[in-house]
Amino acid sequence: MSPTGTEIAQAPGFVANETPRIVTSRFDLENGHTIDQYLATGGYEGLRAALDKTPDQVHADVRDATVLGRGGAGFPAGIKWGFMPADVWPRYLVVNGDESEPGTYKDRLLMELDPHQLIEGCLIACYAVGLSQCFLYIRGEMAVAQERVAQALNDAYAAGYIGKNILGTDFSVDIVLHWGAGAYVVGEETALIESLEGNRGMPRLKPPYFPAAIGLYGKPTIVNNVETLANLPWIAKNGPDAYREIGTESSPGTRMVAVSGHVKRPGVYEIINGSTTFRQLLFDDEYCGGMGEGRTLKAFVPGGGSAPWFLPDQLDLPFEGSEIGPQGSMLGSGAIMVMDDTTDIPKAAHSLTRFYAHESCGKCVPCREGGTWLEKILGRIVDGHGTTRDLELLMEVGETICPGDFPHASSERLGLEAVRFPYQMTTICFVGPSAFAPVHSALTLFPEEFADRVTEVSEHEHSVGAVPVELKGMAISD
Ligand SMILES: Cc1cc2nc3c(=O)[nH]c(=O)nc-3n(C[C@H](O)[C@H](O)[C@H](O)COP(=O)(O)O)c2cc1C
Ligand code: SF4
Repeated sequence: MSPTGTEIAQAPGFVANETPRIVTSRFDLENGHTIDQYLATGGYEGLRAALDKTPDQVHADVRDATVLGRGGAGFPAGIKWGFMPADVWPRYLVVNGDESEPGTYKDRLLMELDPHQLIEGCLIACYAVGLSQCFLYIRGEMAVAQERVAQALNDAYAAGYIGKNILGTDFSVDIVLHWGAGAYVVGEETALIESLEGNRGMPRLKPPYFPAAIGLYGKPTIVNNVETLANLPWIAKNGPDAYREIGTESSPGTRMVAVSGHVKRPGVYEIINGSTTFRQLLFDDEYCGGMGEGRTLKAFVPGGGSAPWFLPDQLDLPFEGSEIGPQGSMLGSGAIMVMDDTTDIPKAAHSLTRFYAHESCGKCVPCREGGTWLEKILGRIVDGHGTTRDLELLMEVGETICPGDFPHASSERLGLEAVRFPYQMTTICFVGPSAFAPVHSALTLFPEEFADRVTEVSEHEHSVGAVPVELKGMAISD
């Protein structure tokens, strides 16, 4: 039941498996989102353990655990916290719950199914780094998450976990809930800060606007992803060594992944970080259980819609950023989109590119104009009106957004060597390059699907054909 008295559906999508459950342990409990259930299952014990230590000790624990950021870049939280300048106050925590990367829906489940775990993580972070106030920003469309987090905040305030002199200590902090208006680019941390300040959600230039130095209201600010923070109660309770026993040395713990597309069991899974391979995740019965009956894997997007695509050649790679980058892609937001042999590749690329073109905030020309061009050119190819010149044009437009070699996977079938991630870019943020990524992957890895679809034209024919029919032959004076 919601605070306003309406019945709200629990988000579908979580699939339990044998992995130790650090952040999803309450996902299949009845009323796992309530404070009673949270307290009955060890809730707020991590906060109590943290408050028994000095803030520096808690910070050191998070640094020793190597909690990699789960919002996309994978930067270790403990090290990021260390970038805060000493003695500048106030300083803020901003929780990034704007999750909108295509394919990604793990943070939504964390907020809907275990909101107190997130709140406890925020409190531990504020205590460790001496943050004065926390702003929790939730994407506009996530009504259930907003209601559940709002209720959880009210309950936690009433029980003395948030506010003044928390649990009788001299640690005090407020958490402010903010609802977004539904813009993908606001997930970018500086755009999120702009939005919180009441401005249009457009990214700022970095440098100088690195949030740890110049963030919300010009003050030092830590921006962390929902899942990153949700790991902290477990670490505070069990210690960094126990966390490091799970996963690999460079990617400890677990991570949440959201799988969508042509597998038998799409859903959100908590998997062992660093060592689980894409083959295990997509084909093992414990996880997605393989492709549909009689179907084969054609390609998959390994890290959210922005990530360059992988082929079956890359299935044995593990969820380890340092192994994925050299192979031409990224783990990003942990969203895997699976395409089987029935997938129309130009259409799939067009669908993703259309999203990024639509979400461009318009601040920089290569993204604002280039994204729209990519979408339109690809659109006419998909509709059967494209020419061979359009294929070159797509790459030329991409070059204006990302000059130089763009990353891609290797392909045994095509005799292609991988080009490593990342890329150069002419834009302020990654939305521009994200519009090009699906186009580039599709053209590079599946050239035959485009060759079949376009008409062969010379440069001259193309330029004549580009003149709209109704203008041909008209005099200037007309
Ligand atoms: C276009 C764009 C969208 C993003 N969307 C999100 C998002 O929805 N959620 C998120 O946590 N990070 C998102 N990020 C990454 C954030 O800028 C930031 O790196 C992250 O919130 C930091 O948290 P972490 O260190 O805990 O991962 C996005 C980045 C870009 C460029
Ligand atoms: S890359 Fe696109 S979304 Fe990002 S700042 Fe530039 S115009 Fe805006």
